[in-house]
Amino acid sequence: MNVLLIGSGGREHALAWALRKSPLLDKFYCAPGNAGIAEVAECVALSAADHASILDFCRTEDIEFVVIGPEAPLVEGLADALRAVEISVFGPGKAAAQLEGSKAFTKELCAAHNIPTAAFAQFNDREAALAYVREKGAPLVVKADGLATGKGVFMAETLGQAEEGVNACFDGLFGQAGANIVIEEWLRGEEASFFVLCDGVNALPLASSQDHKRAYDGDTGPNTGGMGAYSPAPVMTPEITRRTMDEIILPTITAMLERGMPFQGVLYAGLMITAEGPKLIEYNVRFGDPECQVLIPRLKTDLLAALLATSEKNLDEITLEWCDEPALSVVMASKGYPGKYENNTEIKGLDTASAQEGITIFQAATKRDGDRVLATGGRVLNVTALGATIAEAQSRAYLALKAIDWPDGFFRSDIGWKAIDRG
Ligand code: AMP
Ligand code: GLY
Repeated sequence: MNVLLIGSGGREHALAWALRKSPLLDKFYCAPGNAGIAEVAECVALSAADHASILDFCRTEDIEFVVIGPEAPLVEGLADALRAVEISVFGPGKAAAQLEGSKAFTKELCAAHNIPTAAFAQFNDREAALAYVREKGAPLVVKADGLATGKGVFMAETLGQAEEGVNACFDGLFGQAGANIVIEEWLRGEEASFFVLCDGVNALPLASSQDHKRAYDGDTGPNTGGMGAYSPAPVMTPEITRRTMDEIILPTITAMLERGMPFQGVLYAGLMITAEGPKLIEYNVRFGDPECQVLIPRLKTDLLAALLATSEKNLDEITLEWCDEPALSVVMASKGYPGKYENNTEIKGLDTASAQEGITIFQAATKRDGDRVLATGGRVLNVTALGATIAEAQSRAYLALKAIDWPDGFFRSDIGWKAIDRG
């Protein structure tokens, strides 16, 4: 089968690395890819936003299955455009992608189906929103409704910060994404990420995993896309997993089916494990990044077969097998991320680092310039290790990082601490 993967991050490198091993695979392309992905797939210079060119490419190259990595093309309906010409797709159509594309859509779905989540109200008017935050008082969480690359969330500890968040959205800081806002209760507890493959009807949980969202050690500093991750995540006990499936995931899958927008792809629930049990913070309609980079190396089952089953609606015939060894991944980012950073700085030592025991390096934002590898973004490398324990995976990852010579990069030195502290 000829397969096209869409995306260019560390998540897509991990997906490409596993898809490459599938016995079902014939030709394998990635658009646009990166320097790491180019080692396992043929990269083609097509933008995920250019649906017409992607359709053309699929026709000319006889692509039978398209795996869509990032959220933007899903929210923009790329999966629908492909399905309309009878190409199988991993990923939801535009209607089902609203679970990530509109926070208000998800909050309303939760309210209608009794799915535990933070109490909320939504507004499209500045004055009404300001009146509401003044009435409620801090702490509150203020969010732009639409996609804002993780930046449209204000954790307001004071009334002033809540008002600032409301004003930022209505001042157009996030464009159309902030024309509607959601104001939520601030949930307390430990966060967890939970992933299920879905074929519209069936839901198959993946192994547990957890990321570290803050930029600096001790989970301090600004929020990022994720500075590291590990799997399994001890916070997802069997009881919490069961409750998450029964109270959150299954009611969502059923509701989406009933609304005529069956969810096919991977559903990513961002959870807060509160004193009362798991509550939904948000949904995403794609794999987490860097959570994907610790899940994929533990998956023993053929990834292509599993992803295909979400599209062919026979997920009930698939069993996922995981290796017992935990995985841990440390993100190496350009100095300055998540703020301003320099591009095109040179990275050395990748081959030496990759050759170490248990190590796989997924590249997130790199390009080749002759023999040199250059950084081309904020989060650049995912140094991933398997080990007998999370602690062993952690020490292997940090040993490999020592072999990477990239003065313009930085990483957190404590990825996995929560899991290791729990013992
Ligand atoms: P979101 O983009 O909705 O996932 O929010 C980004 C991050 O903000 C989450 O990963 C949480 O750390 C935090 N967050 C969002 N909503 C809440 C909430 N209602 N209570 C506590 N933390 C939240
Ligand atoms: N790691 C968080 C995300 O992928 O959104």
